[in-house]
Amino acid sequence: MFFDKECIYLDESATSRFKPNCVIKRVEKELKNSANAGRGGHKAAIRALESIEECRDSVIRATFDCDVILTKSCTEALNIAILGGDYRGEVLTTVYEHNSVLRPLERLKRKGIRVKYISAPDGIVTPEILKTNLSSDTSLVCIQEMSNVTGKIQPIDALGNFLSNYGIPFLVDGAQSLGRTDCDYSGVSMLAGAGHKGLHGPQGTGFLCVRKGIRLTPLLCGGTGTFSAGLNQPADIPEGFEAGTQNAPGYAGLSEGIKWTLKNKRRINKKITLLSEKALNALKAIDGVTLYSDEPNGVISFNVGDLSSSEVADIFDKDYSIAVRSGIHCAPLIHKSMGTLKRGAVRASFGYGNKSSDIDVLVAAIKDILNRK
Ligand code: ALA
Repeated sequence: MFFDKECIYLDESATSRFKPNCVIKRVEKELKNSANAGRGGHKAAIRALESIEECRDSVIRATFDCDVILTKSCTEALNIAILGGDYRGEVLTTVYEHNSVLRPLERLKRKGIRVKYISAPDGIVTPEILKTNLSSDTSLVCIQEMSNVTGKIQPIDALGNFLSNYGIPFLVDGAQSLGRTDCDYSGVSMLAGAGHKGLHGPQGTGFLCVRKGIRLTPLLCGGTGTFSAGLNQPADIPEGFEAGTQNAPGYAGLSEGIKWTLKNKRRINKKITLLSEKALNALKAIDGVTLYSDEPNGVISFNVGDLSSSEVADIFDKDYSIAVRSGIHCAPLIHKSMGTLKRGAVRASFGYGNKSSDIDVLVAAIKDILNRK
């Protein structure tokens, strides 16, 4: 049997392990009362639909006044925003993005759209940097709010306010940042989010926040419970974009996760900042550690000696029961810019459930590995 309890889980950027009791209880309750939301007029189906709408309201409270398309992941949300829009000319993005942005953008190239990848000397994209890269052909700007590799946070509000002067749609990937940062997203056109990371909901939940008035084309066709006599997929937001049976237990859980996260945000952030500062300071002091992160945002990437990142992660797992992610974290262009495309990086990421002693174990393990050589 897997000794899950003993594992020091430092892979919160992949999915948060800590889930508040209110989330667990709500998922269980919803499962015990399973019904298909929006696919019947009976009380049980209406109640399931109410849970889904409650989740939509919770997403709005955590983001901005928008239409919310519920998805199975942040990746699905980004695909809808990128492949479901009517873009032309050029799309501007950064080398810091995840493949959930890079790969749909690569597909857009088949339609003759050019993709321009920008970077910044210190990793922070400013309005000035955007300005020098915009052209009259720019039809979309896509930027990740927090890097899943370095933890660096982009100034989304400043970028959004700048872009709104030009009327250029601005898509933000909030996979790592939601629940952590304090943006008002005032200049953002679309924001994609994951339910299972910083919002402490279940896996299989995500969403796309769409500024009211934006039109998109659904990628998936099927039953929506609306306009059922018609053979064409409705493009109404949200139902046209949510074909198939909805994950009512997941969204009910996410709704609780968002409420809990908003209520405890200050406490969560304080803890993650303290853990990150402790880890950054300790790692900086070890000869033989190469550090790629410099901000205490809960995501710290590094390498140990001349070992590959996967060797280190395997030793962590087998010998110390520490769970981290290694490799290139689905973000190849940032690794290219860091010079780690081949070796990857070890990523330790922290959440509310972590303890200060977890960092002690991590640091001791790194020192041990370096001494073994
Ligand atoms: N995007 C997630 C990560 O960075 C899965 O690990």
